[in-house]
Amino acid sequence: LGWLGYRTRVFNVGSYRRERLGAHHREDFFAPANDSGRRAREELADAALDDLMDWMRVGGEVGIYDATNTTRARRLRVRSRLEQAGIRVVFIESVCDDPTIIDANIRATKLVGPDYAGMDASAALADFHARVRHYAAVYEPMGVGETSYIKVIDAGRRIEMDGVRGYLPGKILFFLANSHADRRSILLSRHGESAFNLEERIGGNPGLSGQGKRYADALAQFVRWRFGPTRDVEVFTSTLRRTQETAVGLPWPATAWRALDEIDAGICDSRTYAEIAAALPDEYDARQADKFHYRYPGGESYRDVIGRVEPVILEIERQRRPVLVIAHQAIVRVLYAYFRELPAEDCPYLPVPLHTVIELRQMAAGLEEERHPLVGDHADDGP
Ligand code: F6P
Repeated sequence: LGWLGYRTRVFNVGSYRRERLGAHHREDFFAPANDSGRRAREELADAALDDLMDWMRVGGEVGIYDATNTTRARRLRVRSRLEQAGIRVVFIESVCDDPTIIDANIRATKLVGPDYAGMDASAALADFHARVRHYAAVYEPMGVGETSYIKVIDAGRRIEMDGVRGYLPGKILFFLANSHADRRSILLSRHGESAFNLEERIGGNPGLSGQGKRYADALAQFVRWRFGPTRDVEVFTSTLRRTQETAVGLPWPATAWRALDEIDAGICDSRTYAEIAAALPDEYDARQADKFHYRYPGGESYRDVIGRVEPVILEIERQRRPVLVIAHQAIVRVLYAYFRELPAEDCPYLPVPLHTVIELRQMAAGLEEERHPLVGDHADDGP
């Protein structure tokens, strides 16, 4: 949401607890019968909600209130406070009864987190299971009369919703319906060097140079080595020759997306940056001054590209197997910024060299990045 331009912030009650009271709480703190624990937790939940509301008042657009809210009374209180302040509420409830998913999730996210730092793994696991039992004892499922809500069941196996209307709530629903918690790799690559890259021309629809073809071979070898011969990899390219020629040696079919075509340089297409500076100095200077918003006459800006790439992002998010995207400089920058959660305005300046695979691995603690340069290239970063 933040990347699409909505001012979005997460208010996580667990972080308030750790910041204000320390990370030492064991399961008894969360027991419903523990009055002082319950009061402390309610105060923390209110503090996070107060901050969310303050932030919405000064221009925040989507506040994500990350709290357990396991009882109807608690949810009613949250809803009425927010609605009185004119803030629209959509609850997102994540329900999971699958012991395998629960166990994997506790191991991947809780045992490595600050609450159990330095604690024996089996003791930590038992403690967190006890905490879950405390929540379950008072839990009242989201249900009748509690619109609007989206229920994500068993980490996305099933979605239920009620009263979710409008563009933004619909977008959130769509995103939740397509996301999952499986770990996998996303590989981003530009096409191999093209005939235009050699001449420093932008856009067009050229084929690969000799060195570009060597990259295509190296890429096929690398991906096979990385995932093994039997693993299926989802391959996305643009509709342009240079990305399709780069995918040619791969053992999997590629899906070509127009949404992955390079930024449309309009009247500047097929020129060099030097030619643009000489023939259209005002355009050249305007792009230098604000590369993110600048739109080539008859073409696109980076901002436009962000809008059109979004369906592919959802498609990448949806995949459970590894994904290899072979696209173009501006497109890879945009995808990279999305997955690394970088400000959209930084896109035009991100270094994305030719002949280098950027591997992003989704881990519990966040995204891990590794860059694999496969064959040499000449510099073509542009001004
Ligand atoms: O130079 C290669 C290229 O992919 C061009 O086709 C494209 O216009 C350009 O990079 C995008 O990079 P920048 O936004 O830095 O000009």
